[in-house]
Amino acid sequence: MYQTIRTELTDNIFFIYINRPDKMNALNQEVMTELALAIDEIYTNTQIKSAVITGTGEKAFVAGADIAEFLTISAQQGIELAKKGHVIFKRIEDSPKPIIAAVNGFALGGGCELAMACHFRIASANAEFGQPEVKLGLIPGYGGTQRLTALIGKGKALELMMTGNMINANDALAWGLVNYVVPSEELIAKAKEILKTIHTRAPLAIARVIKCANAAFDKDIDSYELEIAEFSACFATKDLQIGAAAFIKKEKAIFTGE
Ligand code: COA
Repeated sequence: MYQTIRTELTDNIFFIYINRPDKMNALNQEVMTELALAIDEIYTNTQIKSAVITGTGEKAFVAGADIAEFLTISAQQGIELAKKGHVIFKRIEDSPKPIIAAVNGFALGGGCELAMACHFRIASANAEFGQPEVKLGLIPGYGGTQRLTALIGKGKALELMMTGNMINANDALAWGLVNYVVPSEELIAKAKEILKTIHTRAPLAIARVIKCANAAFDKDIDSYELEIAEFSACFATKDLQIGAAAFIKKEKAIFTGE
């Protein structure tokens, strides 16, 4: 069905592979359009409990937006380009189901931004991260100036964005950009292991923690008030009854997501 991405549903985990390995999985407009459709599937397909975004091949997660498309873009078209990216990446960030980036190589420019839009990131040992846009006379435009600052702090974010230099996986780990660094061959297994744990937890509660954590970075939302609302709403769910009763009875909770 898709031309520039590949998808696969295994054990309720939806894998999205950005699939242009000969172009380092660069995000051209076709990839962005197909990625948006795949993200829609995460929202609508009840078989999908979580998702992993990764890149095809061993060299690149995504080496950025497709630079070949830049030469003919006007400032006006630049607004449309950035807005489309913002909408798609925000939809990843706002997904009520967990979406992890499994960074299997270069995550540069739009690739680093895509990884940052995911709920968290794990990296293979050969991964490299960077926002090299200033080398092209550009700045990050898919939310990178904001998400990088939120994730690693302003000083480190500005250093990365002003030098355009890459950092390796271990530095990304030390800087808080990724949660784990694992050998390449263990990357997908690590993602599956974490998601398998999350799948045993209460799905509505998972959605609420995502919403509240995102709100911490939304200036228009009183995120503490939101936490009160989301916390209290949990008491009206069947899952809370199941979870609390199972704890008391020393049984394993089997949640229904109601
Ligand atoms: N957009 C378009 N094409 C890209 C690309 C991008 N962001 N990144 C890589 N490619 C293409 C290359 O042009 C090349 O195509 P070709 O074989 O038709 O010439 C192919 O992918 C392989 O890349 P190459 O540069 O030969 O591989 P490398 O191993 O020497 O270097 C990178 C890998 C990732 C370091 C290098 O490709 C790079 O710096 N890419 C651009 C990163 C960037 O600036 N991203 C931000 C964009 S806003």
